[in-house]
Amino acid sequence: MRIVKSNRSQFKDHQITDETVFNNKRHFLKKLGLVSTGALLTTPSQAGLFDWLKDDEAQPAKPPAPLKQLSYQPVKQSQKDQLELTPQDKVTSYNNFYEFGTAKQDPSEHAHQLTVDPWQLTVSGMVETPITLNYDDLFSSFALEERVYRLRCVEAWSMVIPWVGFSLADLLKKAGVKSDAKYVAFETLYRPNEMRGQKSRFIGGSIPYPYTEGLRIDEAMHPLTLLAIGLYGKSLPNQNGAPVRLVVPWKYGFKSIKSITSIKLTNRQPKTTWNISAPDEYGFYANVNPNVDHPRWSQASERIITSGGLFDQQRVKTLPFNGYADQVAALYKGMDLSKYY
Ligand code: MTE
Repeated sequence: MRIVKSNRSQFKDHQITDETVFNNKRHFLKKLGLVSTGALLTTPSQAGLFDWLKDDEAQPAKPPAPLKQLSYQPVKQSQKDQLELTPQDKVTSYNNFYEFGTAKQDPSEHAHQLTVDPWQLTVSGMVETPITLNYDDLFSSFALEERVYRLRCVEAWSMVIPWVGFSLADLLKKAGVKSDAKYVAFETLYRPNEMRGQKSRFIGGSIPYPYTEGLRIDEAMHPLTLLAIGLYGKSLPNQNGAPVRLVVPWKYGFKSIKSITSIKLTNRQPKTTWNISAPDEYGFYANVNPNVDHPRWSQASERIITSGGLFDQQRVKTLPFNGYADQVAALYKGMDLSKYY
Protein backbone atom coordinates (compact mmCIF):
# COMPACT_ATOMS: atom_id res chain seq x y z
CA MET A 1 0.00 0.00 0.00
CA ARG A 2 1.64 3.25 -1.09
CA ILE A 3 0.70 6.46 0.67
CA VAL A 4 1.93 9.87 -0.50
CA LYS A 5 4.41 10.97 2.15
CA SER A 6 5.60 14.53 2.25
CA ASN A 7 6.90 17.25 4.48
CA ARG A 8 3.88 18.89 6.19
CA SER A 9 4.81 22.45 5.23
CA GLN A 10 6.37 21.87 1.84
CA PHE A 11 3.97 24.11 -0.10
CA LYS A 12 3.20 27.76 0.42
CA ASP A 13 -0.06 29.46 -0.46
CA HIS A 14 1.14 31.11 -3.67
CA GLN A 15 2.43 27.83 -5.06
CA ILE A 16 -0.92 26.17 -5.40
CA THR A 17 -4.38 26.96 -6.70
CA ASP A 18 -7.65 25.52 -5.46
CA GLU A 19 -8.24 23.48 -8.58
CA THR A 20 -4.76 22.03 -8.16
CA VAL A 21 -5.68 21.14 -4.62
CA PHE A 22 -8.75 19.36 -5.80
CA ASN A 23 -6.99 17.59 -8.65
CA ASN A 24 -4.17 16.55 -6.33
CA LYS A 25 -6.66 14.87 -4.02
CA ARG A 26 -8.32 13.06 -6.91
CA HIS A 27 -4.96 12.11 -8.37
CA PHE A 28 -3.89 10.81 -4.99
CA LEU A 29 -7.05 8.72 -4.70
CA LYS A 30 -6.63 7.37 -8.21
CA LYS A 31 -3.07 6.44 -7.36
CA LEU A 32 -4.28 4.64 -4.27
CA GLY A 33 -6.92 2.89 -6.34
CA LEU A 34 -4.44 1.74 -8.92
CA VAL A 35 -1.84 0.45 -6.51
CA SER A 36 -4.31 -0.83 -3.97
CA THR A 37 -4.72 -4.56 -3.78
CA GLY A 38 -7.61 -4.01 -1.43
CA ALA A 39 -5.47 -3.86 1.68
CA LEU A 40 -7.22 -0.63 2.61
CA LEU A 41 -10.65 -1.98 2.03
CA THR A 42 -12.20 -3.86 4.89
CA THR A 43 -14.60 -6.71 4.31
CA PRO A 44 -17.91 -4.99 3.53
CA SER A 45 -16.31 -2.50 1.18
CA GLN A 46 -14.37 -5.01 -0.94
CA ALA A 47 -15.34 -3.89 -4.41
CA GLY A 48 -15.08 -5.95 -7.58
CA LEU A 49 -12.54 -4.38 -9.90
CA PHE A 50 -15.00 -4.01 -12.78
CA ASP A 51 -18.20 -3.46 -10.81
CA TRP A 52 -18.25 0.16 -11.97
CA LEU A 53 -18.86 -0.99 -15.54
CA LYS A 54 -22.19 -2.41 -14.43
CA ASP A 55 -23.11 0.59 -12.34
CA ASP A 56 -25.49 2.51 -14.58
CA GLU A 57 -27.25 -0.68 -15.66
CA ALA A 58 -27.85 -1.60 -12.01
CA GLN A 59 -29.36 1.76 -11.05
CA PRO A 60 -32.84 2.38 -12.41
CA ALA A 61 -33.69 6.07 -12.69
CA LYS A 62 -35.50 7.26 -9.58
CA PRO A 63 -36.94 10.74 -8.99
CA PRO A 64 -35.35 12.72 -6.14
CA ALA A 65 -37.33 12.44 -2.87
CA PRO A 66 -39.48 15.57 -2.31
CA LEU A 67 -38.05 17.84 0.38
CA LYS A 68 -40.10 18.54 3.53
CA GLN A 69 -40.83 22.08 4.63
CA LEU A 70 -39.55 22.32 8.24
CA SER A 71 -40.82 24.29 11.25
CA TYR A 72 -38.00 25.62 13.32
CA GLN A 73 -36.80 28.50 15.45
CA PRO A 74 -35.20 30.82 12.87
CA VAL A 75 -31.78 32.27 13.52
CA LYS A 76 -31.78 35.95 14.55
CA GLN A 77 -31.64 38.22 11.49
CA SER A 78 -28.70 40.14 13.00
CA GLN A 79 -26.67 36.92 13.08
CA LYS A 80 -27.69 36.09 9.54
CA ASP A 81 -26.50 39.47 8.32
CA GLN A 82 -22.98 38.91 9.59
CA LEU A 83 -22.20 36.26 7.00
CA GLU A 84 -23.23 36.24 3.38
CA LEU A 85 -25.03 33.00 2.64
CA THR A 86 -23.75 30.75 -0.13
CA PRO A 87 -26.45 30.50 -2.82
CA GLN A 88 -28.59 27.41 -2.33
CA ASP A 89 -27.83 26.03 -5.78
CA LYS A 90 -24.09 26.04 -4.95
CA VAL A 91 -24.69 24.37 -1.58
CA THR A 92 -26.58 21.56 -3.30
CA SER A 93 -24.48 21.10 -6.44
CA TYR A 94 -20.85 21.48 -5.30
CA ASN A 95 -20.48 18.59 -2.88
CA ASN A 96 -18.16 16.03 -1.38
CA PHE A 97 -19.95 12.73 -0.84
CA TYR A 98 -17.61 10.05 -2.12
CA GLU A 99 -20.28 7.36 -1.81
CA PHE A 100 -21.67 8.87 -5.03
CA GLY A 101 -18.37 9.72 -6.74
CA THR A 102 -15.32 11.89 -6.17
CA ALA A 103 -16.22 14.75 -8.54
CA LYS A 104 -18.03 17.76 -7.09
CA GLN A 105 -21.10 17.27 -9.32
CA ASP A 106 -21.37 13.49 -8.72
CA PRO A 107 -23.47 13.69 -5.51
CA SER A 108 -26.13 15.98 -7.02
CA GLU A 109 -26.26 13.77 -10.11
CA HIS A 110 -26.44 10.39 -8.37
CA ALA A 111 -27.64 10.78 -4.77
CA HIS A 112 -31.32 10.59 -5.76
CA GLN A 113 -30.69 6.82 -5.88
CA LEU A 114 -30.55 6.77 -2.09
CA THR A 115 -33.68 5.79 -0.14
CA VAL A 116 -33.88 7.89 3.03
CA ASP A 117 -37.34 6.90 4.27
CA PRO A 118 -37.42 4.42 6.01
CA TRP A 119 -34.28 5.23 7.99
CA GLN A 120 -32.87 4.15 11.35
CA LEU A 121 -30.36 6.06 13.42
CA THR A 122 -29.18 4.13 16.48
CA VAL A 123 -27.47 5.52 19.56
CA SER A 124 -25.67 2.70 21.36
CA GLY A 125 -22.55 1.71 23.28
CA MET A 126 -21.83 3.34 26.62
CA VAL A 127 -25.27 4.85 27.22
CA GLU A 128 -27.94 4.23 29.85
CA THR A 129 -30.75 3.90 27.29
CA PRO A 130 -29.96 2.91 23.71
CA ILE A 131 -32.16 4.84 21.28
CA THR A 132 -33.37 4.20 17.74
CA LEU A 133 -34.77 7.13 15.78
CA ASN A 134 -36.84 6.38 12.71
CA TYR A 135 -37.17 8.80 9.79
CA ASP A 136 -40.15 10.69 11.28
CA ASP A 137 -38.54 10.77 14.76
CA LEU A 138 -35.65 12.76 13.31
CA PHE A 139 -38.06 15.58 12.48
CA SER A 140 -40.31 15.42 15.54
CA SER A 141 -38.29 14.44 18.64
CA PHE A 142 -36.32 17.65 19.20
CA ALA A 143 -36.88 21.40 19.00
CA LEU A 144 -35.45 22.37 15.62
CA GLU A 145 -33.44 25.53 15.16
CA GLU A 146 -31.73 27.27 12.30
CA ARG A 147 -28.00 27.88 12.55
CA VAL A 148 -25.88 29.74 10.06
CA TYR A 149 -22.39 28.22 10.05
CA ARG A 150 -19.30 28.51 7.94
CA LEU A 151 -18.22 25.19 6.40
CA ARG A 152 -14.47 25.09 5.67
CA CYS A 153 -13.33 22.13 3.58
CA VAL A 154 -9.79 20.80 4.01
CA GLU A 155 -9.44 21.44 0.25
CA ALA A 156 -9.33 25.19 1.04
CA TRP A 157 -12.78 26.31 -0.09
CA SER A 158 -15.67 27.42 2.11
CA MET A 159 -19.40 28.09 2.18
CA VAL A 160 -21.87 29.69 4.60
CA ILE A 161 -24.91 27.49 5.10
CA PRO A 162 -28.20 27.99 6.98
CA TRP A 163 -28.67 24.55 8.55
CA VAL A 164 -31.74 23.32 10.42
CA GLY A 165 -31.27 20.75 13.15
CA PHE A 166 -30.76 20.09 16.84
CA SER A 167 -27.78 19.87 19.17
CA LEU A 168 -26.08 16.48 19.22
CA ALA A 169 -25.93 17.03 23.00
CA ASP A 170 -29.75 16.91 23.19
CA LEU A 171 -29.76 13.42 21.69
CA LEU A 172 -26.83 12.21 23.79
CA LYS A 173 -28.45 13.53 26.98
CA LYS A 174 -31.62 11.64 26.11
CA ALA A 175 -29.60 8.42 25.81
CA GLY A 176 -27.70 9.17 29.06
CA VAL A 177 -23.95 9.02 28.45
CA LYS A 178 -22.13 6.74 30.92
CA SER A 179 -19.36 8.46 32.85
CA ASP A 180 -16.57 6.32 31.35
CA ALA A 181 -17.50 7.15 27.73
CA LYS A 182 -14.75 9.29 26.21
CA TYR A 183 -15.54 9.40 22.48
CA VAL A 184 -18.42 9.25 20.03
CA ALA A 185 -18.10 7.16 16.86
CA PHE A 186 -20.28 7.88 13.82
CA GLU A 187 -21.00 5.72 10.81
CA THR A 188 -22.62 6.46 7.44
CA LEU A 189 -25.07 4.08 5.80
CA TYR A 190 -23.47 1.18 3.93
CA ARG A 191 -25.69 0.32 0.97
CA PRO A 192 -23.66 -0.32 -2.19
CA ASN A 193 -26.74 -0.93 -4.31
CA GLU A 194 -27.73 2.69 -3.84
CA MET A 195 -24.29 4.20 -3.23
CA ARG A 196 -22.31 3.59 -6.39
CA GLY A 197 -19.03 4.72 -4.86
CA GLN A 198 -19.19 1.96 -2.24
CA LYS A 199 -19.31 -0.59 -5.04
CA SER A 200 -16.41 0.65 -7.04
CA ARG A 201 -13.12 2.17 -6.04
CA PHE A 202 -12.96 3.86 -9.46
CA ILE A 203 -16.06 5.86 -8.54
CA GLY A 204 -15.78 6.21 -4.77
CA GLY A 205 -11.98 6.47 -4.43
CA SER A 206 -10.06 3.95 -2.40
CA ILE A 207 -11.33 5.02 0.97
CA PRO A 208 -12.77 2.37 3.27
CA TYR A 209 -16.56 2.21 3.55
CA PRO A 210 -18.71 2.69 5.50
CA TYR A 211 -17.42 6.23 6.07
CA THR A 212 -16.70 6.75 9.75
CA GLU A 213 -15.93 9.75 11.94
CA GLY A 214 -15.41 10.50 15.60
CA LEU A 215 -15.40 13.22 18.22
CA ARG A 216 -14.14 13.51 21.76
CA ILE A 217 -17.05 13.57 24.20
CA ASP A 218 -16.57 17.26 25.09
CA GLU A 219 -16.57 18.15 21.37
CA ALA A 220 -19.73 16.11 20.86
CA MET A 221 -21.47 17.79 23.81
CA HIS A 222 -20.43 21.29 22.73
CA PRO A 223 -23.46 23.50 21.97
CA LEU A 224 -22.14 24.34 18.48
CA THR A 225 -22.16 20.67 17.42
CA LEU A 226 -25.25 20.11 15.33
CA LEU A 227 -27.14 17.18 13.90
CA ALA A 228 -28.57 18.76 10.76
CA ILE A 229 -31.72 17.45 9.13
CA GLY A 230 -32.24 20.39 6.80
CA LEU A 231 -30.85 23.45 5.06
CA TYR A 232 -32.45 26.57 3.64
CA GLY A 233 -35.66 25.71 5.56
CA LYS A 234 -36.27 22.28 4.01
CA SER A 235 -35.14 18.73 4.73
CA LEU A 236 -31.63 17.90 3.48
CA PRO A 237 -31.21 17.05 -0.18
CA ASN A 238 -29.62 13.60 -0.43
CA GLN A 239 -26.35 15.02 -1.76
CA ASN A 240 -25.96 17.02 1.48
CA GLY A 241 -26.32 13.95 3.69
CA ALA A 242 -30.02 13.18 4.09
CA PRO A 243 -31.74 12.46 6.30
CA VAL A 244 -29.30 13.37 9.10
CA ARG A 245 -25.68 14.54 9.17
CA LEU A 246 -23.21 16.02 11.58
CA VAL A 247 -22.01 19.64 11.38
CA VAL A 248 -18.98 20.62 13.47
CA PRO A 249 -18.26 24.16 12.27
CA TRP A 250 -14.79 24.63 13.78
CA LYS A 251 -13.42 21.49 12.11
CA TYR A 252 -12.59 20.71 8.49
CA GLY A 253 -15.65 19.58 6.54
CA PHE A 254 -14.66 15.91 6.41
CA LYS A 255 -15.55 15.58 10.11
CA SER A 256 -19.18 16.49 9.21
CA ILE A 257 -20.22 12.96 8.33
CA LYS A 258 -23.33 12.52 6.17
CA SER A 259 -26.31 10.13 6.15
CA ILE A 260 -25.58 8.75 9.63
CA THR A 261 -27.01 5.42 10.77
CA SER A 262 -24.97 4.80 13.92
CA ILE A 263 -23.75 6.88 16.84
CA LYS A 264 -21.80 4.85 19.37
CA LEU A 265 -20.39 5.97 22.70
CA THR A 266 -17.01 4.40 23.44
CA ASN A 267 -13.93 4.76 25.60
CA ARG A 268 -11.52 4.35 22.66
CA GLN A 269 -10.63 6.94 20.03
CA PRO A 270 -12.62 5.85 16.95
CA LYS A 271 -10.92 5.06 13.68
CA THR A 272 -11.93 7.61 11.08
CA THR A 273 -12.03 7.20 7.31
CA TRP A 274 -9.60 9.90 6.19
CA ASN A 275 -7.20 9.26 9.03
CA ILE A 276 -7.04 5.56 8.11
CA SER A 277 -6.53 6.45 4.44
CA ALA A 278 -3.79 9.07 4.86
CA PRO A 279 -2.76 9.59 8.50
CA ASP A 280 -0.03 12.12 7.61
CA GLU A 281 -2.57 14.32 5.88
CA TYR A 282 -5.80 14.04 7.87
CA GLY A 283 -5.75 13.93 11.64
CA PHE A 284 -8.40 12.86 14.13
CA TYR A 285 -8.89 16.43 15.42
CA ALA A 286 -8.97 18.27 12.08
CA ASN A 287 -9.55 21.65 13.71
CA VAL A 288 -9.40 24.43 11.11
CA ASN A 289 -5.95 25.90 11.57
CA PRO A 290 -4.33 28.45 9.23
CA ASN A 291 -0.97 27.83 10.91
CA VAL A 292 -0.74 24.12 10.15
CA ASP A 293 -0.54 23.44 6.43
CA HIS A 294 -1.74 20.32 4.75
CA PRO A 295 1.43 18.55 3.51
CA ARG A 296 0.50 19.38 -0.09
CA TRP A 297 -1.09 22.83 0.20
CA SER A 298 -1.42 25.84 2.45
CA GLN A 299 -4.31 26.25 4.86
CA ALA A 300 -3.64 29.98 5.36
CA SER A 301 -6.48 31.10 3.11
CA GLU A 302 -9.62 29.80 1.46
CA ARG A 303 -11.75 30.38 -1.62
CA ILE A 304 -15.31 31.39 -0.80
CA ILE A 305 -17.84 29.66 -3.03
CA THR A 306 -20.11 32.41 -4.35
CA SER A 307 -22.69 32.72 -7.08
CA GLY A 308 -20.04 34.13 -9.37
CA GLY A 309 -17.95 32.27 -11.94
CA LEU A 310 -14.28 31.42 -11.86
CA PHE A 311 -13.22 35.08 -12.24
CA ASP A 312 -15.39 36.31 -9.35
CA GLN A 313 -13.74 34.08 -6.78
CA GLN A 314 -13.01 35.69 -3.42
CA ARG A 315 -10.10 34.52 -1.33
CA VAL A 316 -9.97 35.32 2.36
CA LYS A 317 -7.67 34.50 5.23
CA THR A 318 -8.64 31.37 7.13
CA LEU A 319 -9.48 31.98 10.77
CA PRO A 320 -8.30 29.74 13.64
CA PHE A 321 -11.06 27.25 14.45
CA ASN A 322 -12.90 28.65 11.41
CA GLY A 323 -13.85 31.79 13.35
CA TYR A 324 -15.26 29.95 16.39
CA ALA A 325 -12.11 30.19 18.55
CA ASP A 326 -13.80 32.21 21.29
CA GLN A 327 -16.23 29.33 21.80
CA VAL A 328 -14.00 26.28 21.35
CA ALA A 329 -10.29 27.10 21.79
CA ALA A 330 -10.50 26.23 25.51
CA LEU A 331 -11.26 22.60 24.60
CA TYR A 332 -7.69 22.26 23.35
CA LYS A 333 -5.83 24.20 26.04
CA GLY A 334 -2.29 22.93 26.45
CA MET A 335 -2.41 20.73 23.33
CA ASP A 336 0.19 21.07 20.58
CA LEU A 337 -2.13 21.61 17.61
CA SER A 338 0.60 20.91 15.08
CA LYS A 339 0.93 17.44 16.60
CA TYR A 340 -2.80 16.88 17.10
CA TYR A 341 -3.83 18.19 13.66
N1 MTE B 1 -19.67 12.13 4.65
C1 MTE B 1 -19.66 11.00 3.94
N2 MTE B 1 -20.37 9.94 4.36
N3 MTE B 1 -18.95 10.86 2.80
C2 MTE B 1 -18.17 11.89 2.32
O1 MTE B 1 -17.50 11.74 1.28
N4 MTE B 1 -17.36 14.18 2.68
C3 MTE B 1 -17.01 15.14 3.73
C4 MTE B 1 -18.22 15.53 4.58
N5 MTE B 1 -19.00 14.38 4.93
C5 MTE B 1 -18.14 13.10 3.06
C6 MTE B 1 -18.95 13.19 4.22
C7 MTE B 1 -16.36 16.34 3.21
S1 MTE B 1 -14.76 16.14 2.65
C8 MTE B 1 -16.95 17.55 3.23
S2 MTE B 1 -16.10 18.97 2.80
C9 MTE B 1 -18.37 17.71 3.58
O2 MTE B 1 -19.01 16.46 3.84
C10 MTE B 1 -19.09 18.40 2.43
O3 MTE B 1 -20.43 18.65 2.74
P1 MTE B 1 -21.38 19.29 1.63
O4 MTE B 1 -21.23 18.47 0.39
O5 MTE B 1 -22.76 19.27 2.18
O6 MTE B 1 -20.87 20.70 1.41
